[in-house]
Amino acid sequence: MSERTKTVICCVVGARPNFMKMAPVIEGLKRRPSLRPYLVHTGQHYDSALSHVFFEELGLPRPDHDLGVGSGSHARQTAAVMTALDELWDRERPDLVVVAGDVNSTVAAALVAAKRGIPTAHVEAGLRSRDRTMPEELNRIVTDAISDILFVTSADAVENLRAEGIPAPKIHLVGNPMIDTLRRHVAAARERDTIARVGATRGGFALMTLHRPSNVDDPARLGRIMLRVESIARRIPVIFPVHPRTRAQLESMGGGAMDGVRLEPPLGYLDFLGLLEGCRLVITDSGGVQEESTALGVPCITLRANTERPVTIHEGTNRLAGDDPDVLEGLVAEILAGPERGPTGPALWDGRAGERIASVLDSWAAGRVAPGGLTSPEPVDIIKD
Ligand code: UD1
Ligand code: UDP
Repeated sequence: MSERTKTVICCVVGARPNFMKMAPVIEGLKRRPSLRPYLVHTGQHYDSALSHVFFEELGLPRPDHDLGVGSGSHARQTAAVMTALDELWDRERPDLVVVAGDVNSTVAAALVAAKRGIPTAHVEAGLRSRDRTMPEELNRIVTDAISDILFVTSADAVENLRAEGIPAPKIHLVGNPMIDTLRRHVAAARERDTIARVGATRGGFALMTLHRPSNVDDPARLGRIMLRVESIARRIPVIFPVHPRTRAQLESMGGGAMDGVRLEPPLGYLDFLGLLEGCRLVITDSGGVQEESTALGVPCITLRANTERPVTIHEGTNRLAGDDPDVLEGLVAEILAGPERGPTGPALWDGRAGERIASVLDSWAAGRVAPGGLTSPEPVDIIKD
């Protein structure tokens, strides 16, 4: 097939969790001769430790366009991505846009594509925390409402979309591309000496990540959490790679050095996965880490009152701590008294989601009436192979 007749697919990434989700999708798309994917990085995350390291480690192609939008308020950041993409797609209009997850770059790209009449596919659609104070919840609702093809990771997400009136033919239950990436890299991650490098022993430490505004933006709340973590560290050492949002807050509170708590800079994917795979338990407020711990069977405490990923509780290792950090110590004690590993997660999280997504998009492209023309994808509710 000549380059001119291929379906051109613009994949948009911007922030740390996007990279693990998009890597297997791009890989799947590249294997389809009739599709030509290319990559745009909005630059929402720009530090090497939050961005470039993942391109190297995950084998992502160098972005064809780097929009360099950087940080800002929600409105400014979203508007900057929208303006930059609008200009880009004025010059070269893709046949389809693919976005992933729930960050500002995702909703911005979906909005520009929808208003330009460019069909859009949303990877990791349908997740709902039902907490509209979370910026990500607003991003999810808007992105799903205006996307044409919705790829979901679990059956509860299908139900959420159906309850919002999204027609079944748009929805494809394909599994979890973030877990494709995990399965591909877990052996290499295990072989690194990251556990020893951070001064820990296999199974003998807790891993922690924290970056949700609801936990870290209020110094009083972050202070209460860290007090509890310091107590936990008397029972089991805590390794804490610190997100820049959290580091800024800890620094404004006067540092953060605590006995038994080892603060690390944000880690690359392989180092982090090596720690996650080898830890006794994880304490987190990350969406992705809830899923990854479930896939590995690693006990997880989520320091939130809700989760948009209930499958990690019902079919995984996740427990919600709720709003009160005082319950953390009790939950850690329960985990330490229990089995070291739980079940390893939902059936479709089998490492083949990227391939299923590519297969749906290939069918969609084959049925396309005209370049950029809107056609419904085949009504495929649950894709097993
Ligand atoms: C964003 C996403 C969140 C996701 C998280 C993953 C939104 C609304 N939030 O949150 O859903 O879970 O990424 O990590 O999209 N900063 C740096 N270096 C960088 C990027 C940011 O130092 O490379 C600092 C800046 O001070 C910035 C702050 O971190 O103001 C927050 O960055 P931002 O992208 O706005 O939100 P996150 O908290 O990272
Ligand atoms: N992660 C990483 N290094 C770290 C912390 C997390 O590579 O220091 C990875 C983690 O394994 C997962 C992704 O980042 O793949 C999750 O991103 P994050 O927690 O920033 O965002 P969320 O999932 O909450 O949107």
